[in-house]
Amino acid sequence: MPELYKKIGEAELRTFADICGEAHVYWEPGHDWMVRASRDETEDLCFVPEAVARPGNAEQVAHLLRYCHAENIPVTPRGAGTGLSGGALPVCGGLVLDTSRMNRILKLDTDNFTVTVEPGVITQHLQEVVAEKDLFYPPDPSSRGSCFIGGNIAENAGGPRAVKYGTTKDFVLNLKVVLADGTLISTGAATLKNATGYNLTQLFVGSEGTLGVVTEATLKLLPHPRHRRLMLANFESPEAACETVAEIFKAGFVPSALEFMEREAMDYTLAYKPDISLAVPERAQAQLLVETDGLYPDVVERDCEGLYEVLEKKGAFDILYADDEAGQANLWRLRRAVGEAVKSHSIYKEEDTVVPRFELPRLLRGVKEIGSRYGFRSVCYGHAGDGNLHVNILKGDLSDTFWNHELPEAIAEIFQLCKRLGGTISGEHGIGWVQRRYMPLVFSEAELQLMKSIKKLLDPKNILNPGKIF
Ligand code: LAC
Ligand code: ZN
Repeated sequence: MPELYKKIGEAELRTFADICGEAHVYWEPGHDWMVRASRDETEDLCFVPEAVARPGNAEQVAHLLRYCHAENIPVTPRGAGTGLSGGALPVCGGLVLDTSRMNRILKLDTDNFTVTVEPGVITQHLQEVVAEKDLFYPPDPSSRGSCFIGGNIAENAGGPRAVKYGTTKDFVLNLKVVLADGTLISTGAATLKNATGYNLTQLFVGSEGTLGVVTEATLKLLPHPRHRRLMLANFESPEAACETVAEIFKAGFVPSALEFMEREAMDYTLAYKPDISLAVPERAQAQLLVETDGLYPDVVERDCEGLYEVLEKKGAFDILYADDEAGQANLWRLRRAVGEAVKSHSIYKEEDTVVPRFELPRLLRGVKEIGSRYGFRSVCYGHAGDGNLHVNILKGDLSDTFWNHELPEAIAEIFQLCKRLGGTISGEHGIGWVQRRYMPLVFSEAELQLMKSIKKLLDPKNILNPGKIF
């Protein structure tokens, strides 16, 4: 419905500049901030906004939204633009509300183990600042070196450590949010427990910028685990690796990370990051990266020995131990670069499938079977301990017709399989722009209507991130 919206003209630009300051509003085509706002990390998609504003505080955000609401101008909130479902793309034009200037850590409460931040704080920066006080903020998406906490909250980001500690939602205690009409609200309290009324906090977590703009978040912290061990186990087949995952939990372990990579994922990444030296055995067709952490080195070591036994029993070979920080960092760098490495090779569609973890082997087999039937190649890797498999479908030399018209049917089949196995269509990347057509595969009409009613209640004029989720 872009035609229903008001176009941004000189008067609107002047108002944005009055609110945010002249230096923080951009509209010239080709300007760095305009170019940046037209993309995220999703495929090769590009939507140019009419303007970008970079407010410096919650009052400016409220003022911008109050004005855009009154004038009927679409607003796309944006963090660092590392998203993989097109959540930050201004698909209806309008204004991109960039949160990068709101990047202060407001309060680190070392007595209560909480931290209050603005949305533009880089996740890794937050982790490092709290680590100096021996505190731990676990959610660690692969993009943690550049992604923002605000975007993590909007997409309910996860990452490798979610398997033991949970995703972003498990760490958000309270939010300050500006609603579509400019009203500033607070959703909860800075307490660990809260049984007071509806859980507004969790309504906003994962709402992909469609219900409000987060201007402040109070997050839960944990004591920093002092010791970590990391193992890289090779398997002769991807299925064997996936079958080992549930066994690890059945044997009584909860690793702090349990990641899966199939052979091609490793090969692409080692070629992309030649400075990472790692010899992958010839017959290895998949790997599991298994991490344990804890307060006492001997306990971590014992867990590690127990895990080693499970891995060996399930056919793992050439298990590599990384007990020093450099060795661990090397393997994590490899794992975190998989997405980028695949992208450097070919445009791809990223499917963020998730199933109960015991069903992972069945999901993987199904994905490959659907791939060979439709004729596409996929590189699979992800957070195996969570049953969260990233399926990167390579464009390579597939025709545009296949890519745009036939592939969606194949993807629908993959998602139907997820649903049959008790899973769903996104574990941590969100629905955004590119997955919305698949929502009816996992929700009934009544369920979708309920979600749309919530959207309508909070944003009756549909100005906040229009075109997303539904
Ligand atoms: C990862 C991102 C793509 O797991 O979620 O690397
Ligand atoms: Zn991931």
